[in-house]
Amino acid sequence: MLSARKAVENLQEYHPPLAGRDGLRLDFNENTEGCSPGVLERLRTITADDLARYPEREPVEAVVAEHLGLAPEQVLLTNGVDEAIHLLCETYLEPPDEVLVVTPTFSMYEIYAAATGARVIRVQCEADFRFPLAKVLSSITPATRLIAVASPNNPTGAVADRRELLQIARALPDGALLVDEAYYEFHGDTVVRDIDSFENLFVTRTFSKAYGLAGLRAGVLAGPRRQMPRVRRVSSPYSVNAVALAVLPAALGDSDHVNCYVSQVKDGRDRVAGELRSLRLYSWPSQANFLLVRIGPKHREFVLAMRQRGILVRDRSADPGCEGCVRITIGNGVQTARLLTALKEMACELELGREATA
Ligand SMILES: Cc1ncc(COP(=O)(O)O)c(C=O)c1O
Repeated sequence: MLSARKAVENLQEYHPPLAGRDGLRLDFNENTEGCSPGVLERLRTITADDLARYPEREPVEAVVAEHLGLAPEQVLLTNGVDEAIHLLCETYLEPPDEVLVVTPTFSMYEIYAAATGARVIRVQCEADFRFPLAKVLSSITPATRLIAVASPNNPTGAVADRRELLQIARALPDGALLVDEAYYEFHGDTVVRDIDSFENLFVTRTFSKAYGLAGLRAGVLAGPRRQMPRVRRVSSPYSVNAVALAVLPAALGDSDHVNCYVSQVKDGRDRVAGELRSLRLYSWPSQANFLLVRIGPKHREFVLAMRQRGILVRDRSADPGCEGCVRITIGNGVQTARLLTALKEMACELELGREATA
């Protein structure tokens, strides 16, 4: 029987629960309101001729680069951040290289790294999900070729600060540091402007979260001038489709739309965290568009009961250090009001907040 490479045979299939997602979708950290009307307007102008051609990425890369304050050659548009991670792994990893991931975190770092045959080393966050700088630094070996850090992190919402990240980049003589800023807009700190000072610092951004374009699959990989040509060698020239390319300038151009959504999310994040406190449910400080909440032993019942009320949230109990935890995406003001009502009812109905502690 035909078998795959050993590293692939050893992988588990990653199957996010995408079926039956009707309702208020607070389960995937997507934008819950939708993209800029300017994007929809541009979509309506797309012609058959536009779709008949292979997509040309470079002009839009130049627009994105300008938005980030970088040179076009430092920016690669990708089929979501997922593809950016995949490309970095393909470019830099082979057995017996080592990859450090800070757990709990986004699954795709480990999947793409393990698929190359590299050895994945998990560094667990501190007890309160603080970034484990000392542990990361002491886990670096001559074989460390990639360190992936999501800041803000998913599913915790915790951040690593800029000085910590740059310290890691400096301590990594023959490895790449990926700082995944998928939730940048909800936080505001970035290391994008430090890329020029390092040979090994890569940053990813996405249009899937604040911009409301998860279905179009568009992400950005930014990195050092000397490294990006290497990454481009393994990238398909057509991985970002023509429709996504056509609308990205309109998405970037409507900063009012994004800012308005982000400010509702930040406000909602504070209100929900406050309500959880008064219900005696612990949630961790988050700089992203979600909160990780310790529900306790009734986490499954909670997720089901919320679904029955038409609100989808994500059980993260299986993530390392997240026993009994559920991740709740924060949406716009109206959606937050609905979430707050449901949380109050649920706490009462399931008698939550009595046994759950941090
Ligand atoms: C930290 C992080 N990075 C990347 C992604 C995926 O981004 P994209 O939709 O651009 O592939 C996610 C999605 O949940 C995420 O949480």
